[in-house]
Amino acid sequence: MQMQSLIISQPTVELVASYLESIDEMRIHGDRIWESWVPMAGEGTPEFVARLVRAETSAIPPSVTTTTYWATISGTVVGRGALRHELTQDLAEFGGHVSYEVRPSHRRQGIATEMLRQILLTPKAKEIGTLLLTCAPANIASNKTIQANGGRLVKTSFVERIDRDTNYYRVDLSIGHG
Ligand SMILES: CC(C)(COP(=O)(O)OP(=O)(O)OC[C@H]1O[C@@H](n2cnc3c(N)ncnc32)[C@H](O)[C@@H]1OP(=O)(O)O)[C@@H](O)C(=O)NCCC(=O)NCCS
Repeated sequence: MQMQSLIISQPTVELVASYLESIDEMRIHGDRIWESWVPMAGEGTPEFVARLVRAETSAIPPSVTTTTYWATISGTVVGRGALRHELTQDLAEFGGHVSYEVRPSHRRQGIATEMLRQILLTPKAKEIGTLLLTCAPANIASNKTIQANGGRLVKTSFVERIDRDTNYYRVDLSIGHG
């Protein structure tokens, strides 16, 4: 896989069909799909895309302002990522500034690592400066993805709300990254 060809961009109407295929793949694979990731009942494609894009400037409670990225290779959506512009108490406990998922058929090819690298290069990430990333200690792929992008493990704590341990990583973009 040529990682030079991976592009992250905000959702567009043209990419929706491929994006929804990738979500179907994740669902079949048994991954958790959040309601906000897919069209709501009766929501058309343009309205769905507009909702995702609008979330960058106008928070949809209980979440915060969030930039959604769809990662493509040659026009096929291979992953999604989200950059949350701030942390609520809940996100500080679990969730952090960035989330990412890779289409199951495209896993273990470096896509998450490249997606996170590109997200961390965005002006918004640089503006945030010091980012919190969280993941389960058992999620080897996610831990490695964060470590490969300069994540420094700060602590591991049990989070009651999700009933499991969580690794807390800090990525400091002010000390040169990329
Ligand atoms: C976690 C996830 C995003 C990783 O995506 P990916 O594109 O497969 O990750 P990469 O290919 O960039 O791999 C990163 C590292 O993890 C390793 N890795 C990937 N999948 C692995 C697995 N199942 N078991 C062990 N190691 C794995 C890779 O070999 C690579 O290691 P390396 O840097 O030493 O070569 C993907 O598995 C996923 O979408 N999982 C479900 C959602 C999720 O867990 N999101 C993160 C929540 S914190």
